[in-house]
Amino acid sequence: MKAVILAGGSGTRLYPVTLAINKHLLPIFNKPMIYYPLSIAMLLGLREILLIVNPEDKAAFSKLLKDGSHLGINIQYKIQEKPNGLAEGLILAEDFIGRDSIFYMLGDNILYGHNIVQLLNEAKKEIEDKGGAYIFGYYVKDPQRFGIIEFDNNGNVLSLEEKPQKPKSNYAAIGMYFFDNKAIEFAKMTKPSPRGELEITSVNDMYLKEGKLKVKLLGRGFAWFDAGTHDSFLEAGEFVATIEKKTGLMIGCLEEIAYRNGWISEEKLEELAYPLRKTSYGKYLLDLIK
Ligand code: DAU
Repeated sequence: MKAVILAGGSGTRLYPVTLAINKHLLPIFNKPMIYYPLSIAMLLGLREILLIVNPEDKAAFSKLLKDGSHLGINIQYKIQEKPNGLAEGLILAEDFIGRDSIFYMLGDNILYGHNIVQLLNEAKKEIEDKGGAYIFGYYVKDPQRFGIIEFDNNGNVLSLEEKPQKPKSNYAAIGMYFFDNKAIEFAKMTKPSPRGELEITSVNDMYLKEGKLKVKLLGRGFAWFDAGTHDSFLEAGEFVATIEKKTGLMIGCLEEIAYRNGWISEEKLEELAYPLRKTSYGKYLLDLIK
């Protein structure tokens, strides 16, 4: 399986903050937003990662993450000329993905919770072994903002709708998807929605119609943020700060994950921590070595 992270888009819902800076480079508490989705891919053991970025922001992403080799991973970049929608990322990633299955993640999504890695690994294994698509539902109070999943009384999925005016449920599809290779073909079949985008919901709907869509609901014990609006951005930062201060453990710390996964040595970790030593982030890394 390969990982594709969407870090393009226009960020209009965060204007004027994102007029000059790409949303995914803004800080969620003590690290750039992009660290959080990237950390999820790394926690899943995925080392081949493609970042979809805007033409004007590629240099900034490369400055931050380089080719990933310092973290023991391989990061490639693909330019999306215009924000034509989430499904376009699958088409742009075709060469990178080859014949593999795909972990597809939105760059502004942050997920935290008990046994999250185990839960995601189960989804990964299911798609690798059996194919299809695997998505996650999360209860939200503002369903008009999301892709919404409708269920029958037995928990079977009846429909999927992108940003419905009259939502049929309060369960949003979070921006984390596991797909078999067919997703690329499905993405090519999608047509622009009324808002002019190739929707990932259309891809999921094609899997649903083929009886190949699996949905798992994330209940209590999970915190999910789509940090794409002023309020949710602030909430995500406050959440991360609170959890990190209470537990003394970091969320989305890439160097820590690389080290614990055995992808980088103690010496490398120390080398990465040194320039950051005046910050709590750098001190945290140095403490890992002690
Ligand atoms: O966060 C979950 C929701 O994400 C899902 O429930 C929806 O079904 C899904 O469509 C998506 O909705 P959003 O309106 O939140 O998507 P947004 O336009 O904010 O884009 C999500 C991420 O993808 C964001 O990090 C920017 C990036 N992006 C977006 C577009 C439209 C791209 O890289 N390229 C694009 O063309």
